[in-house]
Amino acid sequence: MEFAPAKINLTLHVTGRRADGYHLLDSLVVFADIGDYVGATNSDILSLAVEGPEGAGLAKEKDNLVLRAARLLKSGQSVALTLQKNLPTASGIGGGSADAAATLRLLARHWARPLPKSSDVLQLGADVPVCLSSTTARMQGIGEVLTAVPKLPDMALLLINPRQSVATPDIFKALENSHNTAMDDVPDCSSLDEFCRWLAHQRNDLQAPAIAVQPVISRVLEAISQNGALLSRMSGSGATCFGVFSDAATATKAAAKIADAHPTWWVKSARILV
Ligand code: C5P
Repeated sequence: MEFAPAKINLTLHVTGRRADGYHLLDSLVVFADIGDYVGATNSDILSLAVEGPEGAGLAKEKDNLVLRAARLLKSGQSVALTLQKNLPTASGIGGGSADAAATLRLLARHWARPLPKSSDVLQLGADVPVCLSSTTARMQGIGEVLTAVPKLPDMALLLINPRQSVATPDIFKALENSHNTAMDDVPDCSSLDEFCRWLAHQRNDLQAPAIAVQPVISRVLEAISQNGALLSRMSGSGATCFGVFSDAATATKAAAKIADAHPTWWVKSARILV
């Protein structure tokens, strides 16, 4: 089984727009210790079985990113794939891209082939290159330019999705200004308070348009900040929001309280992979 960790955009600045309509981004991306799992066994034909608590919607799809990723590697052999879907779909934490990237890592190992280049996997989705490495990075371009950043301080996260799926193109369409300032350089600091002071001065430029499309997102952000978070923000194009907490115990306590008050929301505490 290959782990497909949830991707979280701690920042997401939209700094421009290309002639083809794609937006230029500047984003600090981290990965969580919760996610989906992809498995493979030898088979004569390529197939995919979707399991897990969030699998229902995907199981009906004829094609998906996992199958497209498998076809991209173009091997003479075939595999039966399984996807254990734990992350809500269309939720801004990379689910589909993380699954595609995990499939590429798994099958590259299975077939003893090199991993495809970042520029070749971009066609699967703008988040697939960063998900392929699944390590903290600054992501620029439309998602293909990745740079290492100083090691982040240890932090606990709370992830909440109000169970309203959000279509990424709709949020980019609702964005009024595509030419915003870039993210400041990520500081080299071991103190979480200092890191959060820096983070508070950065943004997710898709948050306001996402709230305009799905107003419940502002209730999620409120719930997170009222329950002890050092900072709350939306990830990607939403609707999942995160809270940064100083320790796992406070994050877990907040998760239990919010889940109790909002039984329909998807609520998880997590740690970032460092
Ligand atoms: O690449 P992905 O499938 O995640 O993108 C979904 C849609 O989001 C794109 O078709 C495009 O409309 C928009 N997008 C964008 N700029 C990016 C990434 C995505 O405009 N950098």
